[in-house]
Amino acid sequence: MRNSIVGFIFLAIACVPGQRDVKFQQYYAEGEVLYQQHCANCHQADGSGLGKLYPPLAKSDFLEKGPEAVLCLIKYGVEGEMIVNGITYNKAMPGIPSLTELEIAEIVTYILNSWGNTSEMVEVNQASLILDTCSETP
Ligand code: HEC
Repeated sequence: MRNSIVGFIFLAIACVPGQRDVKFQQYYAEGEVLYQQHCANCHQADGSGLGKLYPPLAKSDFLEKGPEAVLCLIKYGVEGEMIVNGITYNKAMPGIPSLTELEIAEIVTYILNSWGNTSEMVEVNQASLILDTCSETP
């Protein structure tokens, strides 16, 4: 009896990181599809951006600010001067208000963990809390 309880606890502990990995993989895979569909036109499939028009997402110092700024920007867009990796950009990025909170969490998980970027995943409940705090005017 005692052994089976200990065994159960070991099994339960072993499963926790596994499940998180599966969730991460799902978010990442969905995020990649959504990125190609909604973002790659401007930021390019490899996240390198386009000249002085569209800033890079690969190794972008803007992304180091954390997920808050990125979530709001995807939903509501942004305009005005922005400096990314020392280069000044000044072109409006349209927001995509039709994306769901889950889709935005997936896109952010994808870009924060691609092209040399490494970060945590952003889960939908986290995304939801952050999106509630965005101001709707860019
Ligand atoms: C029509 C072109 C266009 C599309 C589509 C677009 N962006 Fe942008 N993005 C821009 C521009 C232009 C800027 C710089 C805005 C400025 O100068 O104020 C920007 C800035 C950013 C930034 C902050 C700067 C950086 O490089 O880190 C992030 C993050 C970002 N975009 C992510 C996305 C994501 C994710 C999507 C898809 C959901 C997306 N963008 C779709 C044009 C676009």
